[in-house]
Amino acid sequence: MSELSRIGVAIDSDLLAKFDELIANRGYTNRSEAFRDLIRDELVEKVWEGPESPVVGTVTLVYNHHVRLLGDKLTDLQHDHYHLILSTMHVHLDHDNCLEVLVVKGRAKDVKKIADALISTKGVKHGRLTITASGAEL
Ligand code: NI
Repeated sequence: MSELSRIGVAIDSDLLAKFDELIANRGYTNRSEAFRDLIRDELVEKVWEGPESPVVGTVTLVYNHHVRLLGDKLTDLQHDHYHLILSTMHVHLDHDNCLEVLVVKGRAKDVKKIADALISTKGVKHGRLTITASGAEL
């Protein structure tokens, strides 16, 4: 086992309270182990995906459309990668928040890249890429 490193994470108090409740329900006794498992899960998923593999999937985004220029930024990104995006569904969740679900298709590395760009856009509250296969090989 390699040497332990300690990191500091700035996190909204309400979000942290929700995280603590979530991990308590899953049986974790401390945050560190829960964070480690989340990181491992991401690493396993990365190994599982061959970068050149053809994949289909969905990108789910939740954001506040009042954040300045956010809607334009997300739309510009989607137009820049229109060949990877088959369809987009937009739902107005409430007065402030929007849900977008994009159906994506392409090489795993390209799909991951556009998903990361969308999810990491400042103002996006939550985002998730779910990759699956076309079904032909399943
Ligand atoms: Ni909306």
